[in-house]
Formats: sequence, structure tokens, C-alpha cells
Amino acid sequence: MDRPLHIIRLLADGECHSGAAIAAHLGVSRTAVWKALRKVAEDLDLTIIAERGRGYRLPAPLELLDPQRILTALSPEAQAKIQRLEIYDNIDSTNSRLMREAAEGAPSGTLCLAERQTAGRGRLGRGWVSPFGANLYLSLLWRFPFGPTGMAGLSLAAGAAVADALRAAGADDIALKWPNDVLWQRRKLAGLLLEVAGEAHGPAYVIAGVGVNTHLEPDQGAAIDRPWVDLDQVLGRGTCSRNALAAGVAGALISAMERFAREGLTPFLAAWERYDLYRGEQVEVQWGRQRVRGTHLGLDAQGALRLDTGTGIETFQAGEVSLRPAGG
Ligand code: BTN
Repeated sequence: MDRPLHIIRLLADGECHSGAAIAAHLGVSRTAVWKALRKVAEDLDLTIIAERGRGYRLPAPLELLDPQRILTALSPEAQAKIQRLEIYDNIDSTNSRLMREAAEGAPSGTLCLAERQTAGRGRLGRGWVSPFGANLYLSLLWRFPFGPTGMAGLSLAAGAAVADALRAAGADDIALKWPNDVLWQRRKLAGLLLEVAGEAHGPAYVIAGVGVNTHLEPDQGAAIDRPWVDLDQVLGRGTCSRNALAAGVAGALISAMERFAREGLTPFLAAWERYDLYRGEQVEVQWGRQRVRGTHLGLDAQGALRLDTGTGIETFQAGEVSLRPAGG
């Protein structure tokens, strides 16, 4: 373990640690402690509070990611499907990382998590706010024997799986906004970014990236251009274990990938409809520069969104359409 993370592991309990204790822990001088703390705060964009005469602490305790805790919280079936588990302290994006690894032949079932992303990516070219030691940034590489066209609707299946995992973690009132925004009381709690590559007629693979807000400071949330919420607000501060959540989301995604490979989108449609937030409502669909208004009629069998525009029914394919309540 390198020194920065060594320090963070010591401070993760949220308690105040004296300079002398930190120095002894790291086996360095007290001047080196101050330098190391400054560097770690800078590198990870973290606040470390210095309390005069007492020492140093984080603003709040952190539950850092722990491979053993994640693996043991998974069912034996899901564990057996994980071929590689990678946890990074600081990475550009877990999706970008797995895209690079997949191109070099990484196996299906590679799971990648990070404490922090410096270039977290959202749908439609947006960024994803990814501070250190909070939230969940998780990507799964899954390979399919068929080509990308057979994977249409996979992002909906994955969205329903993540919604199930969040409900299982105790968040009631979860809803989905097409294609796969996960909302709690109409505020964004989680999002998915699925990236597909491969041969037209197969094989192909997907990187399924999931971001879940567990704790965002108001200044971090200010960078998000829509209403948001985190699990601390939904469940109560500190109630949600990041490691348990990582296992819950990974397990749900793995079983969704396996089921989708066998049965396609059909078995996920009923669950998706139960979570469907906007069905029957007046909405506006944006497609590039085009905006179309109408009544949200739900999904067709391929997962496309059906809209009654008043002059006919239009369908929109998964993946590139954003949706807002009309007038909203
Ligand atoms: C969205 O716009 O709703 C999708 C957000 C997806 C964010 C996750 S965080 C883990 C993975 N790595 C990324 O860079 N993005 C996804």
C-alpha cells in the first residue's frame, strides 16, 4: 500500500490522530507527516482538518472499498462469475479503464471499482461527479456470443437490475426514467453508462458502468445540472455500507447479464414497467436537436420508448434520447 492511502486508512475512522501517532504509524518524521497530508489532500481532492494541539482528522468517517468484504457479501454463484476484481484509489474512469482492458482481452466477469474518478463519464457526453471515498463507481465487463444488435435493450435490463439492488438496500420509492436513470422521488440517485464493442455478428462485449450517489457534499452536488439525491438522504447518514452496496449492485448486474444472454429483454419488461416513472404523463423527448412532445406510452418489446404525439405514435430507440416532463 502506498503512503497516501496508508494515511487515509488511518484517518478513515473520522477520529483525530496526533501528528506523532501518524508519524509513528508511517515510520517517518513529523515534518514528513505534514507534507504527506498536504500531498494526499491535494492528490485526492480531500479536506483534512488540522485541530490545534490535537492532530488531524477527516470531516467524516469513510468506509473504504474492501475486496474481501465485497466478495464475501456476494452469493457463491455471483462470486464464481467474477474473474477479476480491481479496485483503484484514483482513476480516470472505471468504464474507460475496462474499455482498454477489454480490447486487450480481459475476461468476461472483470469487475472494476474506484474510490475516485478524475474523468467520470455520464450519458450523452456529460461528466459524473466522482469524489474520493464516497459513492459507488463500478463497471463490469461482460462478453456475449452475439453481436451488438442482439444487445439492444440490455441497458434497460441493467437499469432494472440496479433499481432492484437499491430497493434491496432499503431505498423504497425507486423509479426509472427511460432509458436508465435511477431516481428517488424524482431526484437522480444513480445512473448507468453501457458501452458496447465487438464484431457485427458476434462476439461482442459490454462495459456496464454504474454510479450511485451515497454521499455528496452540497458543493459537489452543485456541479450536477439536475435534481439529485444520495443514499445518506434516503436512508439516513452512514446507514448504507459502500461494500455491501457494491456487492448488491455487482450481483444484480451479473445475474441480469446472464439472464439477458439466455432470454433477452422480455423477462425484464414487467419489472421495468413497475418502476416506470413517466408512463401516461406528458413528456418531451430530445433527439439531437429535435424535441418531440407527447404522451409517454411505455416501452415496446425491444425497449424503445413509445410516444403518442397526437398525430401518431413515434418510437425512440434506447440510448440516445433524454426525457423531461413537458414544461419542466
Ligand atoms: C448517467 O449519465 O446517468 C450515467 C452515469 C454513469 C456513471 C458511472 S460511474 C462508474 C462508471 N464509470 C464512468 O466513467 N461512468 C460510469
